Amino acid sequence: MTARPRQIHLGCFPIHLGGNSGAWRHPEIQPDGSSNLEWVINFAKIAERGKFDILFVADSLTVSDHAIPFETNHFEPITILSALAAVTKNIGLVSTMSTSYSQPFTTARQMASLDVLSGGRAAWNVVTSGTSSVGKNFGQDVHHAHSERYKIAEEYIQVVQGLWDGWEDDAFPRDKETGVYADMSRMHRLNHEGKYFKVRGPLNIERSPQGQPVIFQAGASDTGKDLAAKLADAVFTNRENIDECRAYSSDLAARAAGMGRPAPLVFPVVTPIIGSTEEEAKRKSQELNDLLDPWLAVSFLHRYFKTFDFSQCDLDAPFPDLGHLPDAEQSSTRFLLDVARDEGLTLRQLAYRAAAPRPDFTGTPEQVADQMQRYFETRASDGFMIATDISPRGLEDVVDHVVPILQKRGLYRTDYEASTLRGNLGLEIPENRYTAAARQRMTG
Ligand SMILES: Cc1cc2nc3c(=O)[nH]c(=O)nc-3n(C[C@H](O)[C@H](O)[C@H](O)COP(=O)(O)O)c2cc1C
Repeated sequence: MTARPRQIHLGCFPIHLGGNSGAWRHPEIQPDGSSNLEWVINFAKIAERGKFDILFVADSLTVSDHAIPFETNHFEPITILSALAAVTKNIGLVSTMSTSYSQPFTTARQMASLDVLSGGRAAWNVVTSGTSSVGKNFGQDVHHAHSERYKIAEEYIQVVQGLWDGWEDDAFPRDKETGVYADMSRMHRLNHEGKYFKVRGPLNIERSPQGQPVIFQAGASDTGKDLAAKLADAVFTNRENIDECRAYSSDLAARAAGMGRPAPLVFPVVTPIIGSTEEEAKRKSQELNDLLDPWLAVSFLHRYFKTFDFSQCDLDAPFPDLGHLPDAEQSSTRFLLDVARDEGLTLRQLAYRAAAPRPDFTGTPEQVADQMQRYFETRASDGFMIATDISPRGLEDVVDHVVPILQKRGLYRTDYEASTLRGNLGLEIPENRYTAAARQRMTG
């Protein structure tokens, strides 16, 4: 692959989970977007017009007791991304799939199918499912601890990647003259027997044009970062500001270097709110924040403090002492507890801090472009996940007003470089392990 100048990568969320969960009441916002095919297609096409790298569909496998109503109704990721594959050409399709309540064979097969049908544009966001009630949908009462979930995830990813190599690139000649459909010498069983999984393989789907789907991850604990450094190509993060993003990126890069791997690409989630003047942008931001009811914001906290019932707490008293928390190992839970203590926040203040979009991308198109440039050039990030409060106009503001500025500055592509996601992200196509081994036998 020829080296090319480092450029900003952009992604967005066609299905909105997280962020301002009161924003659906805004007059310009279509409230059924997350389960409306036409709406999601329109959104994906705007992103592709802006030459975005990825569409990312997050997911959870449960409607928990403290669920935010707006988040309880949305398409399943592989299904909606398969539909989007048919109406887009270049943009990458990232699906969350959990390693805690499924078999790697199923995930490998679904992701490989999405990769083949999209012409090599699939990516897997590996999550371990932090919510204990997920197990109750899968006949399991035991929810594994944080560290155990990560150990399972590591073996799970290795099995999936092994299955993706089950057929070499040239395994299906489909030669009508000779009658050879498949060259079975290019098929390889995995025969994996590990601590958690036993899988024979191979998959019944060929290798895709990008070799293997791209791996994303979003853990920020030490264990999460180690897993990302070892196995991920890219990460999502919700670090709060440029300094935190820079610290996170350099920590991750050091961990990856220690393992002889390139640093995963870092995509922080940001919510640009754009106006023709700074005042207009601030007014728009306030309009959206006014829609976030305080108890809705408190519901948002439940994703980090799953076992605690805040309903009897005083919103304006200091953030309560939660006692022993099974979630405390989770990095975002730890982070919020530290912020509440260090800054002496009330329950209301912490809830808004967690649930309202971060303010540092509110401004004119130039100000937002400047901020992106600052992140990118100081290696706080390699790109951005644009969260737009389910308004296509929010995405259009970025595509029509910020993207042209970044392009003029030479920081962002004017057209896709490749038809595969790996090609657009500048990632190597991994050589099939069996092809590589055969080549080594021949040469060595
Ligand atoms: C931007 C972003 C997107 C995420 N998407 C999902 C998701 O779709 N499903 C999920 O269960 N967890 C998701 N997570 C949670 C992480 O995968 C991870 O479980 C969480 O950060 C706790 O792990 P840690 O303690 O290693 O940080 C996401 C996190 C971030 C920052």
